Amino acid sequence: MLELNLALHSSTAEPLFLQIVRGITEAIQQGRLGSGDKLPGSRRLAKSLGVHRNTVLAAFDELVAQGWLLQSERSGTFVNHTLPEVQLQQTATLPGYPTRMGFAFHPIAARRPQMFHTPPGELVMAGGWPEVRYLPLTELSRAYRRALGRHGQSLLSYGDPAGHPALRQELARMVAQRRGLSVTTDNVVLTHGAQMGIFLAAQLLVRPGDVVAVERFGYPPAWTALRTAGAHLEPLPVDEQGLCVDSLERLLQRMPVRAVYLTPHHQFPTLAVMGASRRMRLLELARQHRFALIEDDYDNEFHYEGQPVLPLASADTHGVVVYIGTLSKVLAPGLRAGFVIAPAPFCEAMVALRGHLDRQGNQVQEVALASLFEEGLIERHIRKMRKIYKARRDHLHQTLQHHLPKDLSYDLPRGGLAIWARVHEPWNAVQWSQKAKQQGVHFETGESYVFDQSPQPFLRLGFARLNEEELTQAVTSMKKALDTMRPTSKG
Ligand SMILES: Cc1ncc(COP(=O)(O)O)c(C=O)c1O
Repeated sequence: MLELNLALHSSTAEPLFLQIVRGITEAIQQGRLGSGDKLPGSRRLAKSLGVHRNTVLAAFDELVAQGWLLQSERSGTFVNHTLPEVQLQQTATLPGYPTRMGFAFHPIAARRPQMFHTPPGELVMAGGWPEVRYLPLTELSRAYRRALGRHGQSLLSYGDPAGHPALRQELARMVAQRRGLSVTTDNVVLTHGAQMGIFLAAQLLVRPGDVVAVERFGYPPAWTALRTAGAHLEPLPVDEQGLCVDSLERLLQRMPVRAVYLTPHHQFPTLAVMGASRRMRLLELARQHRFALIEDDYDNEFHYEGQPVLPLASADTHGVVVYIGTLSKVLAPGLRAGFVIAPAPFCEAMVALRGHLDRQGNQVQEVALASLFEEGLIERHIRKMRKIYKARRDHLHQTLQHHLPKDLSYDLPRGGLAIWARVHEPWNAVQWSQKAKQQGVHFETGESYVFDQSPQPFLRLGFARLNEEELTQAVTSMKKALDTMRPTSKG
């Protein structure tokens, strides 16, 4: 009879029976237990391990189910004779995985999206990142638990590729109340974030060579999604009212346009708010020329002066707008909870496409989020965060005015999560950002957002995810960085 030297730890989160399962599996894999070896009886093993016999029985059941052990009522428990030897193979003997390709493939014309790994203590003024330290995590986990507990089996099964009706209904209600969009669930498709919505819309709208107009200062991941569908992009200028519609009219005289992708509410990255007359002209042009307006309304909720401006989609009477929404800023980007609103035929086509891309979304999460909407928790969170972000915007403004009054100029944004600032002569924005990095503060500069990636005298300073103390520290470090760039005066 074998002695099993298993070390169990009651202080870890791993249940005891799983520790036994792991211990026996490792003993088999390492050859300490061979095929056909007999294991101690459950009573004896339980006694030697100091656990309840049921714990050992549960471990044996699991190991039999996984095929590691065999049990016979009369003769006891044995290591399975027919264990595949492959499992025992030493990884060192496996041939190395190929590092070169044996076939051609077509990578997209972009690198993978950036991830910021900053050492603790360094400050990232990322314009698109919301504050996640205030997330209602207790309520969120309760909502997940409730969704799984009440409906787990059906929610973990195949479901509607359009997304769970409960969340589509809540979103339809929310956009009707808050954004003037009179829609039903048939007009709402859930996606993994705005990015997926833009990608799916591009696939449905664009054929290779089709012209899509975009903002010259804009959101590069959307450009990549459009290009991946074959679009030829035409950049249009942006001013303090957002996309210049005059330029679009001139473009339309030269060539047919399939779609315009834009961010009219808080223009990305400049934060300009498009006024009513431009909006009306855009809708009229789309109607006349039969192109689609892909309206990316990524942070609608965070408007600090009066009411948010209603989306283009709220005045669309001719079915020309594909409206892209997301909960990435409202809650958290990691939830990947976005949505598209469009006339029903477009939604139907999008659902068919989505169904063949990743089948469906995460229904457990969708039901959990629906219940949080229903309880009013998301609305309360938005109200709370709006106040916090407004205070942070004002604090960043005051701090910049105090420390860098002559070095930067900007219009204080009426909404959004960042300040878009012009860098004054003689400073160079990129050099400033590099020096600032050495001081532990990170921010993006204009060439990351301009269509031709040319040097630009702009900074985008995100304020949402830094508290007031951190913002003060960030601006102080920005100033220090600038001080290292000043020519030393002699004499
Ligand atoms: C203009 C714009 N659109 C879309 C997104 C992406 O949102 P999501 O995380 O929902 O894909 C962002 C995120 O920063 C954004 O700034």
